[in-house]
Amino acid sequence: MKITFVNKAPASKFLVAGCYEDKDFGSILGGLDKAAHGAIKAAVANVDFKAKSEKMMRIPTLNGLEGALLLIGLGHAKDHTSLALEKLGAKLIPGLSCIRVKTAAIDLSDIESTKTLSAPEMIAYVASGALIRSWKFDKYKTKREKDEIPVLEELVFVTPDVGASQKAFDELLAVAEGNHLTRLVVSEPPNVIYPESMANHAMELSKIGVKVEVLGEKEMEKLGFGALLGVGQGSIRESKLVVMQWLGGASGQKPIAVVGKGVTFDTGGINIKPSNGMEDMKYDMAGSGVVLGLMKSLALRKAKVNVVGVMALAENMPSGSAQRPSDVVTSLSGQTIEILNTDAEGRLVLADALWYTQDKYKPEYMIDLATLTGAITVALGYEYAGLFSNNDKLSDMLTKAGTEVGEPMWRLPMGKIYDKDVDSDVADVKNVGSGRGAGSITAAQFLERFVNKTPWAHLDIAGMAWDKKDKPLTGKGATGYGVRLLNEFLKANFEG
Ligand code: BES
Ligand code: MN
Ligand code: ZN
Repeated sequence: MKITFVNKAPASKFLVAGCYEDKDFGSILGGLDKAAHGAIKAAVANVDFKAKSEKMMRIPTLNGLEGALLLIGLGHAKDHTSLALEKLGAKLIPGLSCIRVKTAAIDLSDIESTKTLSAPEMIAYVASGALIRSWKFDKYKTKREKDEIPVLEELVFVTPDVGASQKAFDELLAVAEGNHLTRLVVSEPPNVIYPESMANHAMELSKIGVKVEVLGEKEMEKLGFGALLGVGQGSIRESKLVVMQWLGGASGQKPIAVVGKGVTFDTGGINIKPSNGMEDMKYDMAGSGVVLGLMKSLALRKAKVNVVGVMALAENMPSGSAQRPSDVVTSLSGQTIEILNTDAEGRLVLADALWYTQDKYKPEYMIDLATLTGAITVALGYEYAGLFSNNDKLSDMLTKAGTEVGEPMWRLPMGKIYDKDVDSDVADVKNVGSGRGAGSITAAQFLERFVNKTPWAHLDIAGMAWDKKDKPLTGKGATGYGVRLLNEFLKANFEG
């Protein structure tokens, strides 16, 4: 979908205008003449349209109006945070699609600025929300049904300052494109997305200035990635570790590291999962998908920060060469791991990726994202990611960024008592807890054994990567949860 900014509403386009809940209906209809205002007032006089935030009302052709008009409620000006404006923009997508509009002009040119946002910036946020929501995964549909809703092709935003809106939008566009890339790789089927094709996606980013290195199985064997390689050994797909670097900060600045679980399909391995719902495990690489999308966003907006993005990629399959429950592997850290459940594989690929990342890049902070445990959805449902950390400052920065962009998280406890639960009888550590509950916490305790005191946070996104209902900004399916969050976290804290 194309997005442009103009000074004056083009007469030829379907028009969307906003109105405040507590103001006269004429208040912000910038592009319309007096006669039209009167006609609109008459049209809404007898219907129940209160201009509550995000509510919409369609007005068919009126005297003094070229085409039809859609009114969108803006609620109250005091509630217009960047996130609220993005959600408002997102609402336009289903709103316009269901009345079969292909192109529209959105006139919010008289929107009231707030303490922190100017009117042109606010309009850019509305555009950003619309753009994020407009993404769809329909590439495998070869037939279009006759009465199918036409694709929304273009939105033209009327703004008092085209340059200022465009400038603000360019940054938001970079983030939206990262979010879209994440949602693409998360939505792709596992016969299309596997370790090597994920690595190819990363290599694409070298065109926009990301430094990319890929380790294959031979290199990882030499280095001693016993935990990661064990997960992939039952698959015919080669496991990969991908390191992406965006070095937009000062040359001496320690990097921030972001590490993603990238299990491109999780059958459970020999501890095979039940068939019901197994198809969901195509998105078990969402953590890596976020790292990929984030790196794209940072490069597109030329972020002034140094970031190392690592994807730990393997496919977890049962086969004659698969690892068995009770196998013992030696991880890159030197610690031995007793594999008691081959379905607890995410922590294994992360163990080596986390150790490698802290050892080689000495990051100031290290954050991992992983669809790690079903248990996190028991605790938090599909509303918050689980946050686990050894550092309060990092936790606070992440939580704040998440609230800001509508990608929230909730911190859960860690500690010695839980840590003991992953002690093994035969090796240094075992890959599952003792079955006394707190499955998401014991998973985090396992990871902590591989971070070597680095200030670190783990986000369990098993409930957030995919939405079966309908998220305001991203609809159904892959959400890209994490890209906007980490972009905000970096921007607010490390870009001077
Ligand atoms: N990939 C799953 C976790 C998951 C579940 C992600 C649902 C997204 C949606 C993970 O590898 C897994 O299988 N975890 C096990 C851990 C258990 C064996 C200790 C689980 O949650 O049951
Ligand atoms: Mn698993
Ligand atoms: Zn998994």
